[in-house]
Amino acid sequence: MRDPVDVQAVRRHFAFPTLGRIATNNAASTQPPRELVALYQSLAPGYENVHRGQSSASQEMTALFEESYDTIARFVGASGRDGIALYRNTTEAINAVMYSLLTEFREGDNVVTTTMEHNSNYVPWYAMCREILPRLGRRVDYRLARFDPHTGELDLDHLASLIDARTKLVCCTGASNFLGTRTPLRAVRALADASGYLQPTGERRSYLLVDAAQLVPGSFVDVRALDVDYLAFSFHKMLAPFGVGVLYGKPHLLAAALPFLYGGDMIAEGRVFPDRVDYNRLPWKYAAGTPNILGAVVSAQALRLLLDLALSPDRPAYFGTAEPIERSTVRAGMNRVSTWNRQLTGRALDGLGAIDGITIYGPRDPARRTSLVAFNLAGRDPVGVAEALNRAGIESRAGCHCATLAHHALGLTPPASCRLSFYLYNTPDEVDQAVAAVAAVAAGRPAGLDGPRERVAAR
Ligand SMILES: Cc1ncc(COP(=O)(O)O)c(C=O)c1O
Repeated sequence: MRDPVDVQAVRRHFAFPTLGRIATNNAASTQPPRELVALYQSLAPGYENVHRGQSSASQEMTALFEESYDTIARFVGASGRDGIALYRNTTEAINAVMYSLLTEFREGDNVVTTTMEHNSNYVPWYAMCREILPRLGRRVDYRLARFDPHTGELDLDHLASLIDARTKLVCCTGASNFLGTRTPLRAVRALADASGYLQPTGERRSYLLVDAAQLVPGSFVDVRALDVDYLAFSFHKMLAPFGVGVLYGKPHLLAAALPFLYGGDMIAEGRVFPDRVDYNRLPWKYAAGTPNILGAVVSAQALRLLLDLALSPDRPAYFGTAEPIERSTVRAGMNRVSTWNRQLTGRALDGLGAIDGITIYGPRDPARRTSLVAFNLAGRDPVGVAEALNRAGIESRAGCHCATLAHHALGLTPPASCRLSFYLYNTPDEVDQAVAAVAAVAAGRPAGLDGPRERVAAR
């Protein structure tokens, strides 16, 4: 069978293979292709602010910036740029929803989230319920749905039991960054639909917010097919440099809600008076202050390049253009990425699963998870394991991965595990090297000393 991705052609777009790095910490951040770094530089001659100048440079930068919203909207299946707000990252995007909805929560309401969440999709709701709303004299509860500690699957019956007619919002991860589990989003949507909560828009159902930080980078996602109300993700986990995250929101919700940040450019031109302020049209109502302009342009181009790398890495067709991307192209490209990631993950699960004394967290079926594997070795400190892997040139991450509740739920003391995570530029051979290094650490053998730092220094 042909590989879904021409991985050697993909790798030629990146610097890390030439440095001898085995980049297997992709759930934290992915590596940037050379084209995106060059794109930053190529934007320098026309460097200007957006929506704030009559120069040709400003007009051109504004066009590029606005086009990036269209690319992002098409990539996730939004109806248009009206549904897109840009923030620094997923965390800020989720906080934006929290601050926007803050005033809408009524006394006695609740928000339901899960113990599988990254802290970014728990702590804002904790803070809203425990710290912010009580100071405003309002009592709102948060409720936590559990997962099955053996299978790593969200407990849908427990989730159903927590959702009721006072549940304004259900928040869940699209895929866990520790267990790897993909959430059955249609089932969660159905439960949120059935709550009967009366929203200010007149809708009778709970809103659904999906933290898609681990979902969008490796899957075909269609926000309208999933019927999510809000969805957040970060570009630094899908090839782009750091600094830009997306909040998708249904346009009618973004139009009705209070903005998260107030100030320049989010107001309608000339419509500020001592006694009244009118906000800008969407999506600029949610773009207060000078945005990360170059970051937005490069991030949207990262989506185009990701599709190119998946579909035809030697002949990029979408990168560097503003061509509208068909949904079928996004689907084809992202299906290749997810198939490749699943093959790598299955290989890692098989290899790691054969190691004595290893505990692997989350579902065993690679089709039920995203492209990461977290584990512990009996009697070994996970940070020590990750350090030993690094000495063997294998990049991993140890700690709680900000999924602290899930580590506690599994009774892990300290709340930590070691995690390997893969992306479309990783090879089966790299997975095998990572597995061999973990096996060596588990057996008490040196995993290798020729770490990337030494190799880079030796160049
Ligand atoms: C599931 C999940 N949610 C949220 C985040 C936070 O992303 P960011 O740090 O870009 O805000 C991460 C990052 O690891 C994540 O994996």
